[in-house]
Amino acid sequence: MVGEGKGALAGEPHAAPAIRTTVVDHAPFLATVVADAAAAWIRQHPGGLVCLAAGDTPLPVYERLVALQAAGRVDLRSVFYVGLDEWVGLGYEDRGSCLQVMTDAFYGPAGIPAERRRVFDGLADPHAECAAVDRWIADHGRIGFTLLGIGLNGHIGFNEPGAPDQDGCVVVDLDDTTKAVSVKYFGTARPVRQGVSVSARALAKADTVLLMASGAKKAPIVARLRAGADPAEVPAARLLGHPGLHLFLDREADAG
Ligand code: F6R
Repeated sequence: MVGEGKGALAGEPHAAPAIRTTVVDHAPFLATVVADAAAAWIRQHPGGLVCLAAGDTPLPVYERLVALQAAGRVDLRSVFYVGLDEWVGLGYEDRGSCLQVMTDAFYGPAGIPAERRRVFDGLADPHAECAAVDRWIADHGRIGFTLLGIGLNGHIGFNEPGAPDQDGCVVVDLDDTTKAVSVKYFGTARPVRQGVSVSARALAKADTVLLMASGAKKAPIVARLRAGADPAEVPAARLLGHPGLHLFLDREADAG
């Protein structure tokens, strides 16, 4: 079942901007619904710039998008891509790097040519990478569509709580929560300290911003976001009020 609404919570302490929200029963169906929305945008915007998150939540979306392409329902090579973020110091050979995850789950299976994508190189100087990715975005006008996940601490990309709110890409000291969660991607504790990311402000310039969350552990942060949290504490709140923001939740993430 799919439920759609403006997503305001009853009993909020103050009026938070309503977010267009779609709630589905289960995470696998969530991926189907989000993939269909992404495919529709791509069909309508040949040559557009798409910014994709890694992380566990959107991975099934990428599998579904590849399947839609195989079925002739979308040409994923008709747009350009920019990677959302990367762990500073990690490259393709490092299990759980964004480059590895996205190459193996999406760019490779979808056959996206290298000249159609620009992802952060975590092994290069992060400030030089910021400048290069900023240029890539500027060369394509701006990000048209982005698919994001929200972290347990409210981050989007590596826009961590308390991180600078700036236009260009950002090099950020990782939050303790993010460092702790990183073990699930790497399979072991790694001494990651910084991330490099498209800034929340650049993401907020996109026409269409899909923000996904699934599972009970995301319910508290989703509830804080919907209640109009302070963006300095919950960076995803920088997207509040964006006319193109669409929150996609499974029932568990909606239950906070
Ligand atoms: C990943 C990223 C992060 C994740 C977020 C949720 O590229 O930018 O913001 O989207 O931490 O991660 P998961 O989906 O693993 O819970």
